[in-house]
Amino acid sequence: MDGGNRSTAANVEFDALLAEIDAHNRRYYRDGSPAIGDGDYDALIRRRDFLAEQNPELRRRFAPTVGDDRLEKFEKRTHLRPMLSLNNTYNESELRQFIDRVERASGNATVFAVEPKIDGLATAIIFRGGHFDYALTRGNGAEGDDVSANVRTISGLPMEIPSMGEGIVEVRGEVYIDRGNFLRLNALREEDGLEPFTSARNLAVGSLRLLDPVKAAERRLRFIAYEIATGDEGFQTHCQVLEALKSWGFPTNDHALSKGADETWKCIEEFDRRRGGYPFDTDGAVVKVNDRNLRRNLGSQATAPRWAIAYKFSPERAETILENILLQVGRSGVVTPIADLRPVTLSGATIRSATLHNGDEIARKDLRVGDSVILERAGEVIPAVVGVVAAKRPKWSTPYVFPMFCPACGGNLTRIDGEVARRCLNCDCPPQIARRIQHFASKDAMDIESLGPQRLQQLLDGKLIGSFVDIFRLDFNSLVQLPRVGEKSARKLLSAIENAKTRPLWRLIHGIGIPHIGMETAKALAMRWPSMNSLAKLSVEDLRLCDGIGEIVAASVHKFFSDPRNLALIDQLAALGLSMVDVEPPQRTDGPFAGKIFAITGTFNSMGREDLRSAIEAAGGSVRSSVSSKVDVLLVGDAPGSKLAEAEKLGIQTAGEDLVMGWLDEVGG
Ligand code: IVH
Repeated sequence: MDGGNRSTAANVEFDALLAEIDAHNRRYYRDGSPAIGDGDYDALIRRRDFLAEQNPELRRRFAPTVGDDRLEKFEKRTHLRPMLSLNNTYNESELRQFIDRVERASGNATVFAVEPKIDGLATAIIFRGGHFDYALTRGNGAEGDDVSANVRTISGLPMEIPSMGEGIVEVRGEVYIDRGNFLRLNALREEDGLEPFTSARNLAVGSLRLLDPVKAAERRLRFIAYEIATGDEGFQTHCQVLEALKSWGFPTNDHALSKGADETWKCIEEFDRRRGGYPFDTDGAVVKVNDRNLRRNLGSQATAPRWAIAYKFSPERAETILENILLQVGRSGVVTPIADLRPVTLSGATIRSATLHNGDEIARKDLRVGDSVILERAGEVIPAVVGVVAAKRPKWSTPYVFPMFCPACGGNLTRIDGEVARRCLNCDCPPQIARRIQHFASKDAMDIESLGPQRLQQLLDGKLIGSFVDIFRLDFNSLVQLPRVGEKSARKLLSAIENAKTRPLWRLIHGIGIPHIGMETAKALAMRWPSMNSLAKLSVEDLRLCDGIGEIVAASVHKFFSDPRNLALIDQLAALGLSMVDVEPPQRTDGPFAGKIFAITGTFNSMGREDLRSAIEAAGGSVRSSVSSKVDVLLVGDAPGSKLAEAEKLGIQTAGEDLVMGWLDEVGG
């Protein structure tokens, strides 16, 4: 009776756990927006496994999985070999047990390779005969989403590797977004009044699975290779694999070799110390058997190999006082609250401030001036305020009320529909002007050397400039009147400004600060319309014709050029000698395929997808990653995916390989 009750209780708890884990899996793997931390998630898994261990009938009710990140919108492909996950541990004794088990199985002192565990998403890249063929997410371990179009945008990833030889080589590694870029993208999002991404990993998940590769390119994804999963027969050790990957031009992971538990533990501690120095987030260290023969003998369980384990670092936390909440005004008037903190040391760095993102975040956490708050190293160097120590709240504290007026100019702060942010709508607000000019001169825009934020502030304070147009009106005599500006630096600055007049058009399009236009979108616009004049005259419908330009961006560009004040700025820039056209438009607009939009599905025997795309672009056409009513022709290769059915549904013309090659021959592609 007792036993029956126990197992009923276990049943109920077990079902609830399975449902909870399932919901967390969806959020983590598919949506890139986990609701709980890794530690809490792993605790649920442990409880599930504990209950299953105690009750064999429960064990039969679930099959362990590696999660599932598949999304309907992508074509699917079967993995050449199952894509497993890793067993995790948070404690040293479990790590020692793992090493023990391996050493007992091998009967020898075993060499381990210890590597940082990169917090991104596992991705498989398949090369055929030394050419990039396709790339897949892990999916459910058996089949993944085809994310080739986005993986192609990853800089530093080789696409052609002649020395790889014939046959298929599958490289596995981690797609991630580096920390600096994460901060940049979040700042841009906050500027646009959007909810910031909660971590670099979640941003990477969302970015790799964007349908539009132009947008994915703006996210500047990166890849680090750590395994060869197919075509690895010739390698005896993991070190040899890493060497080969490096020699083929892949970015590879740092690694250290160790023997026995003590040495391995020391290596893990060393990686923990070093973690802040990597440009990517690491959430632990991976310990792997170096000898590949031994790996084969050890084999795998359902979801993870027996030859590796991930030791997870615990997030570092610190407590301090929230002394004040300051407001920072961005380029587009978005007002971001910043926590002014009593300085505290967190993983070796002194933290004085942290972004609080927006008013909703402050309200959700009920943060009040005077509170003792907990800081966590979310993504290591980016400190986040994760909560309040309720017991230490001072009696005098009152809930934070977001100000109604701009702290810089006194203008009204408005909350725009659908945005979490509040904005100062006064475009003459001084910090907004300063930020707009900083953006214009920055590396990602006009790239004017010697014109950093400090120098610009000096020019603003000295009333030498009031907008970015004035940069081109600066003269030697007024510059040398400024404190700390000698003749030499004045000349250097003027020559940098002169050089900026002939920058490629996309830099100017990006620099003038059209809302929602990032670097890659600016490039796509300049590629299609290599003249500012023609860009300014386009209708929303015209703009939508450009690959990668959606409704919001098209409307934003149109609105910008409909404002006479913006047109006046452009006229002034032109009058001051700035180039408003690209001297050499990067793409033919007069080719035989001019204006034609293609999409591709399946594989082509005569050429790889990348070459096919280049041939089409060289003839003036463009290639989209998905099928929509805008596509003129779908090129259908072997083993076509779901795009074919979509094209048929929309009545879009299709063309097989022979026909496509015939066309390319005709147009000289
Ligand atoms: S090896 C059989 N090495 O961590 C799996 N994985 O939690 C072999 N990861 O799925 C994976 N850094 O996405 C390996 N240096 C590294 C890694 C690494 C990050 C990821 C990978 C894996 C996940 C498991």
